[in-house]
Amino acid sequence: MLINLKILLGISGGIAAYKSAELIRLFKKNGADVRVVMTHNATQFITPLTIQALSGNSIHIELFDAGADNGMDHINLARWADVFIIAPASANIIAKMNHGLADDLLSTLYLAATCPIFIAPAMNQAMWSKAVTQTNLSSLQKQGVLTIGPDQGSQACGETGFGRMTEPTAICQHIIEHYSQDNDKANKPLHNLKIMISAGPTREALDPIRYITNRSSGKMGYAIAEAAIKAGADVTLITGPVSLSAPSHCACIAVESAAEMHEAVLSRAHDHHIYIAAAAVADYSPAQVNACKIKKQADNINLALIKTKDILADLTQLQKHPFTVGFAAETNDLANYALDKLKNKNLDMIAANLVGTAVGGFDSDVNALHVFWNNGDIVLPMSDKNIIAAQLIDLITTRYKSSLQH
Ligand code: PMT
Repeated sequence: MLINLKILLGISGGIAAYKSAELIRLFKKNGADVRVVMTHNATQFITPLTIQALSGNSIHIELFDAGADNGMDHINLARWADVFIIAPASANIIAKMNHGLADDLLSTLYLAATCPIFIAPAMNQAMWSKAVTQTNLSSLQKQGVLTIGPDQGSQACGETGFGRMTEPTAICQHIIEHYSQDNDKANKPLHNLKIMISAGPTREALDPIRYITNRSSGKMGYAIAEAAIKAGADVTLITGPVSLSAPSHCACIAVESAAEMHEAVLSRAHDHHIYIAAAAVADYSPAQVNACKIKKQADNINLALIKTKDILADLTQLQKHPFTVGFAAETNDLANYALDKLKNKNLDMIAANLVGTAVGGFDSDVNALHVFWNNGDIVLPMSDKNIIAAQLIDLITTRYKSSLQH
């Protein structure tokens, strides 16, 4: 399935480097020709000899190699490659790529490469969440670098969270799908459209160990992301903390609080055609975050809360903003509240769901939606969230395309 594809694999320094051995085996099994560049740090985690034996080609490490043809490995390899994949991509290489640093063979190759470039980030969850890492990553994505993962789960350091390198089978599958999709991509309804989707809950910190949150599992938003990807869109998923694996073929940005989600969405708004707000964003956040654990003393304590910034309302205030689809989660009076939000937040569409019921809504595999837009509405009856998501994406596609004609 990857027959004759020339894959240049970059391995940077991180414990996930051991997974690159399996990745090479899978690429080769699928017919690719694989050449490998390692950083010096990567050689601390897996030996060049292992990688050489698996790839069947000599390994490139040094920027200045008198043995290389014309002494310029970075140019030769960049010209040779059909695709450049960096897996694992450490926080360090991501930062260097974003700042155009070229102080070793791998970072120099990034500057020299003109083929499609994928990165599979892998790092400790705190390093992944750090604002500077997210800024570097989103800047690279804007420059056209494609990301695969990372996944969420337990890490080699003993912590849990986003930052695990996506498994080699999933990376290989991603590349296979990318190259087979290239052929029929142009026929898909959302081809060439960039869609941003928010999903999951937010967490509003009270002190270093406690937070206020809600029951959102992220299932609805993730199902919408999958449906949009299947329909051919380039998807950016802005996700609160959930325990779901990020869909492949999308840029996944992890955030925690309503303020972080606000920043993540607003800073990317200009770059997307459609925004779908499926996240359950906190309406209120503690006025003050205690630096230390709040101690159990008084019988009653009062918690002062302040309103969070409304992401949707702020986004639709922008002079140039995407076609915007909100959600309304209500326990009663669904249609009235939804229509109020459609109007007050200046939305193009709103998908309303009843929550707090025995089935559907929060943390359930099924849902039902009543979707409203100016002068129209439709009920999508209770079914699996994947089915509801596909129906919603069909509907949004139709409404978005008709909005372009007016
Ligand atoms: O995640 P699941 O378990 O699958 O559950 C799915 C869901 C019930 C969370 C989802 O279908 C849903 O309804 N999401 C929106 C939940 C919500 O916050 O609704 P709301 O009526 O409080 O907010 C209205 C809209 O404003 C939402 O699109 C919300 O994302 C947005 N909002 C809210 C607050 C805020 N500060 N900024 C916002 O943009």
